[in-house]
Amino acid sequence: MHHEQAIGHTLRVPDAEVIIRSATPLDRDALAGICLRTGHAGEDATSLVVHGHLYGDVYAVPYLALAPELAIVAEVDERVLGYVLGALDTPSFEARCEAEWWPTLRARHPLPGDGSDIDRALVRRLHEGFHTPRRLTERYPSHLHIDLLPELQGHGVGRRLIDALLERLVAAGSHGVHLGVDPRNERASGFYEHLGFRRHDGDGAVLFTRSLP
Ligand SMILES: CC(C)(COP(=O)(O)OP(=O)(O)OC[C@H]1O[C@@H](n2cnc3c(N)ncnc32)[C@H](O)[C@@H]1OP(=O)(O)O)[C@@H](O)C(=O)NCCC(=O)NCCS
Repeated sequence: MHHEQAIGHTLRVPDAEVIIRSATPLDRDALAGICLRTGHAGEDATSLVVHGHLYGDVYAVPYLALAPELAIVAEVDERVLGYVLGALDTPSFEARCEAEWWPTLRARHPLPGDGSDIDRALVRRLHEGFHTPRRLTERYPSHLHIDLLPELQGHGVGRRLIDALLERLVAAGSHGVHLGVDPRNERASGFYEHLGFRRHDGDGAVLFTRSLP
């Protein structure tokens, strides 16, 4: 039997059974934890922030709250170790965040924020919100975020999660998807290119797009 052991972890993949399922409200803390542990260009951001929940509050939990039908997790032995999250129509999602998500966080974290540089950058981000240009969303209206803990990476689960999300986006009528990647995160860029996303290099960010279906 083939055994593959991730360094420093007891989990064995692919021997362990990886379950891909829809997220539920009970997965909220797991999503926030994964977001933090993969938040710094794909690496653990835990030691870089004081407010450990901010990564999840900005990049993960709003998707579970506002677009739960597109929130999918990968679970092993009843532990959630990865997720893909998405929004079908980015302008509508951003408008809903303005109305329903950012106000509470803005009240809780007034500018200029405190803690580390990254904490303050996250506070600025939640005050600015997201305003994706229409020229992008007209062709690629949907967007996504995917993160797997190290022990689950490199075993085909990222591909399974992307496939599951794109299937839902197509079923819901989307004709294109986009996402942003930190330019330092070469591993993720290689992954998206391998999966048929088109790369566009811009100022300080790398954008990927894919037409659907
Ligand atoms: C990036 C990430 C989502 C990829 O998921 P993964 O489960 O590790 O990738 P998979 O094992 O499913 O890889 C799927 C395919 O892509 C290929 N691939 C993966 N990384 C690649 C790379 N850097 N370059 C080229 N191909 C790559 C794999 O070989 C595999 O090919 P195959 O299916 O044709 O055999 C995952 O590693 C991760 O969560 N990393 C940390 C957080 C992060 O960076 N998130 C993205 C932020 S934008």
